[in-house]
Amino acid sequence: MSIISDDSNIEVKKKITEKNPITKPESIEYDKNFENSIRPKSFETYIGQSALKETLKISIEAAKKRELPLDHLLFYGPPGLGKTTLAGVIAEQMGVDIKITSAPALERPRDIIGILMSLKGGEILFIDEIHRLNKIAEEILYPAMEDFSLDMTTGKSQTVKTLRIPLPKFTLIGATTKAGALSGPLRDRFGIIHRLEFYNQEELAQVVTRTAGILNIDIDEKGAYTIAGRSRGTPRIANRLVKRVADYALVKGDGKITEDIANKALDVLNIDNSGLDSTDRSLLTLIIDKYNGGPVGIETIAAALGEDVRTIEDVYEPYLLQSGLLQRTPRGRMVSPAAYKHLNYKIPNEQQTLF
Ligand code: ADE
Repeated sequence: MSIISDDSNIEVKKKITEKNPITKPESIEYDKNFENSIRPKSFETYIGQSALKETLKISIEAAKKRELPLDHLLFYGPPGLGKTTLAGVIAEQMGVDIKITSAPALERPRDIIGILMSLKGGEILFIDEIHRLNKIAEEILYPAMEDFSLDMTTGKSQTVKTLRIPLPKFTLIGATTKAGALSGPLRDRFGIIHRLEFYNQEELAQVVTRTAGILNIDIDEKGAYTIAGRSRGTPRIANRLVKRVADYALVKGDGKITEDIANKALDVLNIDNSGLDSTDRSLLTLIIDKYNGGPVGIETIAAALGEDVRTIEDVYEPYLLQSGLLQRTPRGRMVSPAAYKHLNYKIPNEQQTLF
């Protein structure tokens, strides 16, 4: 797997801080190496997403029988669910190389042209955060995806000439947290579009056990389930928590992760039994205390929490919505009775009749 162009020169490197706690699924720069070291390389070791894996296996088999590259693929879903990992598994299964980049690193036309021209036949190009591609890069991609060619123009006004440069047949795998933010023409050029789902507790416990095994961390089944239950349905978070809980086990116990050790470590990290951290709880509490449970606009919530709207939408909301604690309505966000219960608030009477 080659990282042809990472976004470290474009975006400020993220560290674990108050604003980027370990309970959030965004990639944090220094865990990229860790993530790469534990990434499963085959469908057998890739846990979860079983329906998706089955359809992908068929697409891969068919492409191999036809001796053609796989159709262009788009994966969408919340961050941390394994889109990059799955692209790596597909490359391994197809027996081809994969080049990994992300849309913010393809700012200038020469960035995308350079990558496309470096591809060899059958190779996979993975573009993360593909909804952030600019218009020029998108327009370069269209003929590349459709006809495997680059349309270049030379000269000015009257003397302008279009040059068509053939490219080897390749597969583009795009990943996005926001399928709706992709332009229609770009979305239409993907032959296969799949959504990744949050993981259930059993799947996450398997991820935790596998990761602990790779890192030589001693863990029992209940310990793994405890970490899994507080990982917000997200393997990236589960993997980070394994390391933090292992630290706690080493310092406060005998090194082994048990249910008791895991619970104590996660309490110290301020992660509650639904996997919510203090910001998630502040968000729900704000809507209850200041806006009677909502509805309230996302801009108002973001301003009150000192976050930007995009962070709330991309990072905080997906799991709160999925777990039924928060609801999105045309008039704004509302908390559900389950949120009142979770935060130990009395459910107001109107709410009881409303739901
Ligand atoms: N680590 C991150 N995602 C994983 C997955 N789906 N299966 C196994 N290990 C993982």
